[in-house]
Amino acid sequence: MLMLLILGVLLHGVSLSGQEEASPKADGIPGEPLFNYASIRLPQEHIPFFLHNNRHVATVCKKDSHCPYKKHLENLKFCWGYEKSCKPEFRFGYPLCTYVDMGWTDTLESAQDIFWKQADFGYAGERLEELHVLCQPEETNDSSLVCSRYLQYCRATNLYLDLRNIKRDHDRFKEDFFQSGEIGGHCTLDIHTLMSQGQRKSPLQSWFAELQSYTQLSFRPIEATECDVVIEKPTYFMKLDAGVNMYHHFCDFINLYITQHVNNSFSTDVYIVMWDTDGRIRVTILARSTEYRKILNQNELVNALKTVSTLEVRIVDYKYKALGFLDQLRISHNTDIFIGMHGAGLTHLLFLPDWAAVFELYNCGDERCYLDLARLRGIHYITWRRQNKVFPQDKGHHPTLGEHPKFTNYSFDVEEFMYLVLQAADHVLQHPKWPFKKKRDEL
Ligand SMILES: *[C@@H]1O[C@H](CO)[C@@H](O)[C@H](O)[C@H]1NC(C)=O
Ligand SMILES: *[C@@H]1O[C@H](CO)[C@@H](O)[C@H](O)[C@H]1NC(C)=O
Ligand SMILES: *[C@@H]1O[C@H](CO)[C@@H](O)[C@H](O)[C@H]1NC(C)=O
Repeated sequence: MLMLLILGVLLHGVSLSGQEEASPKADGIPGEPLFNYASIRLPQEHIPFFLHNNRHVATVCKKDSHCPYKKHLENLKFCWGYEKSCKPEFRFGYPLCTYVDMGWTDTLESAQDIFWKQADFGYAGERLEELHVLCQPEETNDSSLVCSRYLQYCRATNLYLDLRNIKRDHDRFKEDFFQSGEIGGHCTLDIHTLMSQGQRKSPLQSWFAELQSYTQLSFRPIEATECDVVIEKPTYFMKLDAGVNMYHHFCDFINLYITQHVNNSFSTDVYIVMWDTDGRIRVTILARSTEYRKILNQNELVNALKTVSTLEVRIVDYKYKALGFLDQLRISHNTDIFIGMHGAGLTHLLFLPDWAAVFELYNCGDERCYLDLARLRGIHYITWRRQNKVFPQDKGHHPTLGEHPKFTNYSFDVEEFMYLVLQAADHVLQHPKWPFKKKRDEL
């Protein structure tokens, strides 16, 4: 069974009494709404249910002539069904069974109840009842960690993550991704309760593998200067069941939707982080927007690369006006195999990581230029060798010198191309500094 797998994380600036945030101002400035109603991303017919759970918004709406939800204010008794204040007759819906499948249960009532708890809003209700404070904030700017049973759903505030020493490998959900001290917060940690929640440690059922290392820190993550990046936007961490087909991926959307209910927040101004610790090899192809040295069958080559699941492929065009220099550096520095035709753009090889390989697709007879630069930088260099497997468009047209191999376009034999890229990939995987090396390789 697929479980709720989302860690709602808020990394900054939540007042501990967050519910009161939107306290109504008595006199709104004319022309300005008192609440950002557009942030409630729900269909009209669900608004009354939202207002039931967010009375502070209803109160503001009552006073605000700009509120588009006035007509819903009469229906504030409507409720999803998981709220403590929800009266059965105002519930959004209730499953109705007309016969009992003997294998499951023996009464209509219990069949309906099972459906409600496993496949309807009752599921959110059960998670809400299980919520347990695992790390208690004591003062302003402290962190917090609240989870349901077996850490199926967790919500953290001011969460500290140290990603400097991560070791990834070919597991999608590596179990010892975080070591002690690499994840945590400034709050009073109930370590015994945390450690007792490990019975469902498998990746699609729990966040236990990640949160078992949660550490009570001596500094406040937000105030201390420890962090070089502070993410203030509310963030969901999700482990995906699968993105490859609609059937399985749909479970992920359901998970996200249930989590919105458990957290009672429906804004779409959030980050969603797909949790995946698999170390794929990042291939960047440098496209050219010049008149010469275009890769004529670039699409064919890219499609061939995409059939290899361990490669992550990106095509870039380093045009300064379209992509600023820092962004270019960021891409280069996050590339393991850099592929491009002979051309000035290959100078970016200087910014590749130490374990990277540069593949000068075709050097157009200029053999030393980027070979030497790669040597000076200390990274691996390969280039096209087999002349019978590269196909120039014509003999080339230098403006004054006549025929010239740098002044035409090329296509490449796909099989030979893949052979060379996989050789480069081997180099990356064998490199002692490749960060995702399997432990047993190191022994
Ligand atoms: C909380 O942290 C913010 C941001 O660092 C800081 O400006 C503020 O003074 C802190 N508040 C308290 C009460 O410590
Ligand atoms: C969860 O709810 C709190 C309010 O209680 C909100 O501040 C936060 O943004 C929500 N988290 C997400 C990821 O939407
Ligand atoms: C190379 O391709 C580009 C774009 O398709 C084209 O404009 C250019 O004329 C081609 N060059 C040659 C030498 O055919």
